[in-house]
Amino acid sequence: MNPEQFFQALWEKYIQITPQAEQIQQLFLQYNATIVNDHVAFRTFDHAAVNIESFEPYIRDLGYKFLADYHFPNKHLYAKSYVAKSTGLPKIFLSQLLLAQLSPMAQSIIQNLLVDLDETSVQSISDLNAGQIWKKPTWEQYQQLSQESEYAAWLSVMGLRANHFTISVNHLDHHTSIQAVNQFLQQNQFVLNRSGGEIKGSPEELLEQSSTMADQMDFTFADGETHRINSCYYEFARRYPQSDGKLFQGFVSRSADKIFESTD
Ligand code: NI
Repeated sequence: MNPEQFFQALWEKYIQITPQAEQIQQLFLQYNATIVNDHVAFRTFDHAAVNIESFEPYIRDLGYKFLADYHFPNKHLYAKSYVAKSTGLPKIFLSQLLLAQLSPMAQSIIQNLLVDLDETSVQSISDLNAGQIWKKPTWEQYQQLSQESEYAAWLSVMGLRANHFTISVNHLDHHTSIQAVNQFLQQNQFVLNRSGGEIKGSPEELLEQSSTMADQMDFTFADGETHRINSCYYEFARRYPQSDGKLFQGFVSRSADKIFESTD
């Protein structure tokens, strides 16, 4: 599978449960916008079967190299970013939930959901788009997880997939600032994530980001109960040049920390 096929498969699965992303893309295309993805983000558990290390060889095989890593102590998360060796491809941002930092109860729920997985469960880059490859939680387990970590609750039901795509504002011809993008989205009735402000980061930090709040979908839990849950959101990023004149390619932990809350 080449990178283009991988990202196309991710996009198709993503818009099935994130209809706002396709609607927003269509709105920008009315301005003949060039839609370029800055990055695609994924979530996983720090569990031997599905942790970052288990996916890294396949990310490298796709033509990517490690860029930087990030710590989110308040959310019990660790993340790595990867950049493509060839141009025109989105960066990959892969975070994982640090299970050892959760309560014994939450750890036990998650270990039980993943009990059928082992080191052979990840076999290709496509597994990063495999969805929920572990057991479904009950509604009660989902609620218990969400009290401790929204990320854990989200991941338990949504599984391995694109958590969000991110439009590169630098490549838009008409809405050339994050402010203009946000205004345009709000004029079209989309709800922005306001945690940490509508705009995360600053030109001084070389990266400004904003995101919508996640769409919602019905999910039937292991005990047969069906409830509305948060699915995925769309993100927007504007990058600024470093002292060497090249656009900054990293991420700002304090901003990403708030972006995670788009599924809360
Ligand atoms: Ni992002």
